[in-house]
Amino acid sequence: MKVVGILGSPRVGGNSDILLNQALAGAKEMGAKVEKIILSRKRILGCLDCTKCNETGICVIKDDMPAIHQKILKSDAILHSVPLYFWAMTSQMKAYLDRWCAFFDGNWSWHKAYEPKMKGKRIGLITVCGDPNAHTADPIVHSFRETCKFSGLTLLPVVQASAGAKGEVDKNEKAKKEAYELGRKIATP
Ligand SMILES: Cc1cc2nc3c(=O)[nH]c(=O)nc-3n(C[C@H](O)[C@H](O)[C@H](O)COP(=O)(O)O)c2cc1C
Repeated sequence: MKVVGILGSPRVGGNSDILLNQALAGAKEMGAKVEKIILSRKRILGCLDCTKCNETGICVIKDDMPAIHQKILKSDAILHSVPLYFWAMTSQMKAYLDRWCAFFDGNWSWHKAYEPKMKGKRIGLITVCGDPNAHTADPIVHSFRETCKFSGLTLLPVVQASAGAKGEVDKNEKAKKEAYELGRKIATP
């Protein structure tokens, strides 16, 4: 069982990172092999909509994303953790998500070679926002939920927390427990 954690915040050691670490610890407890990818430390350009990948399944952009595509294909589950920036996901997470384009053909179906690896794959999502109402980050949930629905991925119940200052979520035992449980669940076949 391989679980990849994707950090969408540029603030390493911040709130999304703390909750992602909790989730990955939960997955590890269940025996999963875990790996964390910090998107802000990678070079990930925006999708060009050049449609070349519709035929080949390979993105033409020579940056760090093709290696991440391979990690996604080889993983059993992917945990995402991201803060809300102006009522949306961060630019780092959006660039990453748009580049999933390479997995699909011209009809937005999985490329035949990828389908057995991707169909039903478990997806986790953690959101953090400064607003006291954690549901202010629901636009991010909407984006992931619809993406999962249309492509047949399995989105697990989303963990949402409120926190502003760097590391503030560390005091939120409820959110940390929920993230830990998400990690345990995502690593349970
Ligand atoms: C550029 C920027 C935009 C933000 N926009 C919002 C927002 O629209 N709504 C909100 O509730 N918090 C917003 N925040 C606050 C962050 O979501 C909050 O500080 C969060 O804890 C950051 O998580 P992190 O520590 O994982 O980076 C914004 C922060 C930044 C830096």
